Amino acid sequence: MIRTENLTKVYNGNKAVDSLNLEIAEGDIFGFLGPNGAGKSTTILMLVGLIEPSGGKCIINEIEVARNPLKVKEIIGYLPENVGFYGNMTAEQNLDYFARFYPIDADERKKRIGELLELVQLDGVSQKVGGYSRGMTQRLGFAQALLNNPDVIFLDEPTTNLDPEGVLQLRQTLKKLSDEGKTIFFSSHILAEVAQVCNTIGIISNGTLIERGTLEEVKTKLDVRKTVKIIVEATNEDMPKIEHENIINVEYKGRRAVIEAKTDIREDISMYLLENNVGIKELRIEEPTLEDVFMESVYKKPFFKKESFTKET
Ligand SMILES: Nc1ncnc2c1ncn2[C@@H]1O[C@H](COP(=O)(O)OP(=O)(O)OP(=O)(O)O)[C@@H](O)[C@H]1O
Ligand SMILES: [Mg+2]
Repeated sequence: MIRTENLTKVYNGNKAVDSLNLEIAEGDIFGFLGPNGAGKSTTILMLVGLIEPSGGKCIINEIEVARNPLKVKEIIGYLPENVGFYGNMTAEQNLDYFARFYPIDADERKKRIGELLELVQLDGVSQKVGGYSRGMTQRLGFAQALLNNPDVIFLDEPTTNLDPEGVLQLRQTLKKLSDEGKTIFFSSHILAEVAQVCNTIGIISNGTLIERGTLEEVKTKLDVRKTVKIIVEATNEDMPKIEHENIINVEYKGRRAVIEAKTDIREDISMYLLENNVGIKELRIEEPTLEDVFMESVYKKPFFKKESFTKET
């Protein structure tokens, strides 16, 4: 369980994180979304006890982080945004070095390092870490975050440098860890990634949490539910006057027009279009994507809305 209460961080008079209240249940994979500079990394740094809050607090499994930073470190794993290792050592040597900070006996340590290197597909790599690609370093960082078999795992943009196979493997591993009851906090601005792997999300903008809940809840709250698209054969000139309160956009592409509506107006409009001799090519319902949710909440407007629409009708 992860909880923040009015968590705030001020840098040079600016609030990087502003009265953040989060609650993430055990076993959840929480996606923490936000544009660059929103305050994601700052929040994580306070949660893992690496920087002190200017106000408020972080609680992990009932332990207050700022008061018990060492106790918290025993139960958490952390993959930083820019993970660093000793370049003149191998992956195994690096993991062994970090594992010695935890109370794990030598046999167990060797076994766990072997398993983790296999998990991130770096087993048998004898090359020193200094020569690793960014993706390899990030995978080693993920292994390091799991060294102490943590209950709560913080990953700051874990997929940034991974190739598609690496992303897929990470996704599968996170699902497995969550099934084992581990709580995962995953920050990203890759929206599709968060939609694939997380069951709850929070969107932060300018240090403030602007949306939170399950993906479905956030979608519903923002009222960016299904949209209906009707593709017809008509140009701007031969389109009959279309007036319907739930039509949100009409876009012309060559000899075709795409009519977009917020409710299922397919029956109404198809009768009307046929009466006006407009050929219908397609009628379909589209589910909202996480991009819709993100654009709606961060920029306060759906990106499909065109200013020209009011003029056209
Ligand atoms: N050490 C620091 N000193 C001063 N300002 C900082 C410091 N760290 C972060 N900030 C500022 O706090 C704000 C939030 O930064 P943060 O790194 O938390 O954003 P982020 O959401 O992680 O962004 P990104 O997606 O680019 O990683 C930014 O305006 C940043 O400039
Ligand atoms: Mg960041």
